[in-house]
Amino acid sequence: MEMQAENIQQIEMLLSEKDGILRFRRTIMQYECAMLEIKTKLDVLNTELSLQKSRNPFETIKCRIKSPESILEKMKRNNIPLTVEDMEKNLNDIAGIRVICSFPDDIYMLADCLLAQDDIRLVARKDYIKKPKPNGYRSLHLIVEVPIFLTDEKKPMRVEVQFRTIAMDFWASLEHKMKYKKHIAKAESISNELFYCAELIAQLDGRMQQIREKIEDAAEA
Ligand code: GTP
Ligand code: MG
Repeated sequence: MEMQAENIQQIEMLLSEKDGILRFRRTIMQYECAMLEIKTKLDVLNTELSLQKSRNPFETIKCRIKSPESILEKMKRNNIPLTVEDMEKNLNDIAGIRVICSFPDDIYMLADCLLAQDDIRLVARKDYIKKPKPNGYRSLHLIVEVPIFLTDEKKPMRVEVQFRTIAMDFWASLEHKMKYKKHIAKAESISNELFYCAELIAQLDGRMQQIREKIEDAAEA
């Protein structure tokens, strides 16, 4: 990950420990490696399952490393001491992967296949599809730990994996914009409308999946 000179200065001033900046860079590099490991595992599953099912279990996969600014902002907001050790202990979303599927059942199939692998440890699971957030947000969130093999050590690293359908992703990206516009006129009626759309999307996802099943049954018959 590229880091701007001013970001580095900012981190240097904030990380209270000796050699903080070097350790920070090394740790971010390790998160990048862990993210690559998980991405590869998901790519492998997609390749294998697409042969079995004649369709791709996921449409898109996006990876991101949290920016130094966001890391510092979150640590300050949660009163986490500004050391690399405390960052690793407390933040689960430095490495993030978003997997965008066509159908809800593919989400669970992929998540189960990933979690069944013997080098993956599940740290936390939040199923906002079975239990949506009050605003209507739906996605399956996993925090997983995967070991990375470096020249001199084997280190378990945490990665956040978000699974959602194309329709849920469409909704989340629009809703995300509302987060920064809480004080605009009609904010409440917009939130209500977004909630209603989230329900519609859940119904739509269900119906599209049923249609797919009918097509598959017809093809087998
Ligand atoms: P963060 O501190 O934001 O990481 O949240 P958390 O630790 O409470 O975890 P949670 O699993 O609830 O959310 C993690 C991530 O999911 C967020 O950073 C967003 O990317 C996404 N997310 C969660 N809730 C919402 C929501 O209501 N709307 C949208 N658009 N995204 C959400
Ligand atoms: Mg987050």
